Amino acid sequence: MKEMLAKIRENAALEISAINIDSEEAKNLLEDARVKYLGKKGELTSVLRGMGGLSPEMRPVIGQVSNEVREFIEKEVEEKKNLIAQRETARRLEKEVIDVTMPGKRNTSGRLHPLTQVLTEIEDIFIGLGFEIAEGPEVELDYYNFEALNIPKNHPARDTQDTFYINDNIVLRTQTSPMQIRVMEKTKPPIRIIAPGRVYRSDAVDATHSPLFHQIEGLVIDKGVTMADLKGSLELFAKKLYGEDAVIRFRPHHFPFTEPSAEVDICCFSCGGKGCRLCKGEGWIEILGAGMVHPKVLETCGVDPKEYSGFAFGLGLERIVMRRFDINDMRLLYENDLRFLKQF
Ligand code: PHE
Repeated sequence: MKEMLAKIRENAALEISAINIDSEEAKNLLEDARVKYLGKKGELTSVLRGMGGLSPEMRPVIGQVSNEVREFIEKEVEEKKNLIAQRETARRLEKEVIDVTMPGKRNTSGRLHPLTQVLTEIEDIFIGLGFEIAEGPEVELDYYNFEALNIPKNHPARDTQDTFYINDNIVLRTQTSPMQIRVMEKTKPPIRIIAPGRVYRSDAVDATHSPLFHQIEGLVIDKGVTMADLKGSLELFAKKLYGEDAVIRFRPHHFPFTEPSAEVDICCFSCGGKGCRLCKGEGWIEILGAGMVHPKVLETCGVDPKEYSGFAFGLGLERIVMRRFDINDMRLLYENDLRFLKQF
């Protein structure tokens, strides 16, 4: 029996040392070997089962030897296990090595769209003048977009503002002016708001037209508001946006919802009024439409025109942005081409 135990010890040692720690199988092979020699049905156990047939003197001797063999094999298994684990760690570290001299991945940060940049600037100017910002629906009732603004069905002013009809009574708003009505219906004067937002017109796309663009509406209603207030406010606005030298002029115009009405031009900031490519030789550039809110519109909104008066204006954001950054094609503003947007 002693020889059998010696043989087991020798075989186990050989088998364990033969396991290649570089191989992926190493762990499994070691476990197989452990079961084969030390397991419940293993070789060592089956030898011990035969101890019943030994003489009482021999039993403790064989018992001791078999214990030594067991401890020996256990130690071999343990050592091999450690070797395999070390090897695994080494391999993982090798794979995960970081080359700190490699260039890092650059974090690209976004920025505001040029339309948003200028809109924010304009909002800040008016907030500084005590205005609040109002927002309303782009899908608008015909009533607010036209009717209440003194543009009844069949009025020729509708031709210049053809739009997209959801049905007979619902349109995509052609202007931000319906916000005048919505605000006056909800708020008692004094009112001082601007209402920026998207507007729509049934225009074919080209360098200066888009079926979607942006306007900023302004509305002031109070006791004793006059055309002088309108002029003063817009002059102040122009100076804040274009610099202290900015000069504006009012030209008579017609809007159904203001009376009197005007178009407001700014003296060309590129040529100083002499005429150039930017102002198309005019010396002046139109920036907005404005006027005193029509008494009929006030009445429609339940504001007494004998007690209150006010002014309104509407400016197109795209034009201002295009001139500010010398952009010659409106489509660039909507295409979201990063090569374009990164310049601002
Ligand atoms: N809504 C007008 C337009 O789109 C502009 C405007 C607004 C004119 C307010 C007067 C007063 O042309």
